[in-house]
Amino acid sequence: MSRHRVVTGEDGQRRAVESWLVSAGRDGRPGAPLNVPPIPASNFVLGDQRAYARDDATPGWEALEAIVGGLEGGESVAFASGMAAIAAVFDQLPVGSLVALPDDCYQGVVGLALSGQQRGRWSVQRIPVTATERWVEMCGVADLVWLESPSNPLLAVGDVDIICAAPRKPGTILGVDNTFATPLNQRPLDLGADVAVQSVTKFIGGHSDLLGGVVTVRDPTLLATLRQARELAGATPGTLEAFLAVRGVRTLALRLERAQHTAMALAERLERHPAVAMTRYPGLTGHPTHLAAVRQLAGFGTIISFDVHGDAAAADAVCARLRLIQHATSLGAVESTIERRAGIPGQEHLPPTLLRLSVGIEAVDDLWADLDAALIARL
Ligand SMILES: Cc1ncc(COP(=O)(O)O)c(C=O)c1O
Repeated sequence: MSRHRVVTGEDGQRRAVESWLVSAGRDGRPGAPLNVPPIPASNFVLGDQRAYARDDATPGWEALEAIVGGLEGGESVAFASGMAAIAAVFDQLPVGSLVALPDDCYQGVVGLALSGQQRGRWSVQRIPVTATERWVEMCGVADLVWLESPSNPLLAVGDVDIICAAPRKPGTILGVDNTFATPLNQRPLDLGADVAVQSVTKFIGGHSDLLGGVVTVRDPTLLATLRQARELAGATPGTLEAFLAVRGVRTLALRLERAQHTAMALAERLERHPAVAMTRYPGLTGHPTHLAAVRQLAGFGTIISFDVHGDAAAADAVCARLRLIQHATSLGAVESTIERRAGIPGQEHLPPTLLRLSVGIEAVDDLWADLDAALIARL
């Protein structure tokens, strides 16, 4: 499943997004390097242009912002990490705000929200990802409505389209963590969100070799305050990281298409495996939010969460036996990675045998042979 998207390039030509991605963000002037090189500079010769990198950005971040902005359909601000990007959005809230947060979402965001609550900055209400009516209500009362869909790690797909279209209290920010979907599978700003966030560390970079984050918005005032938040907090992306992220994102469409095709095949096989108790993947017709995924996503993504039979030790043993699939955290890279999420401090509420698999670009049969061997040894 993939819906082809067409974008208008800097030259005014309409092209498939895959074609646009290959050359977006380039300088293009005669004699300029084809790709913006990493320029290690904190300061620049004074004149009427940029003076200091933290205040005025660098050409490398600007290239990354142009590309992610084009993908998400807005103006982007690049940050040092996904969490730095998300923290800058939370930082917009006046003291005493109400934050609506999904019951299943990235643990770092939960930590950020709860630490702000503890310090009296805002209060947090956790809402089930699929409780659409409650989300719609929250749009009328909360100051920040934070969505993550598909959710991490339970892969529930919320009714992002319905929630984004619900009337909002004036000043309410509706933000979507779009990391799992990527802007190729979902464009929250088109649906009516104010903010779309990417942890560039994941699919945009795609090679497990950098940390980065991007916030994309359409409102010019919000854009200016986010840039200011970055400047004041000094949460700026690194020069090399921005360069690597731009290099990585050139192949996003190719990587994603391949990996989600493989993910679908693996999910179908896992579902039938005798050592597997439950498989969560939005592409499976039996997935509780499959229909929402079909309606809203251009692809089902590359993450599968599955529970093995037995206990936590049995699930750990599966991870330890894998040879091709790396036993590592994080996701969205060329290599497949797996981890038992409940083993992470703060994640004990998750099913103890749940393994989150991020499918990479390896050959499907090699991945399956690795998984099957690790699972069969359990029986
Ligand atoms: C969905 C999601 N959002 C945000 C983040 C935070 O990104 P970063 O690690 O780049 O700070 C992560 C990291 O795992 C994530 O999975």
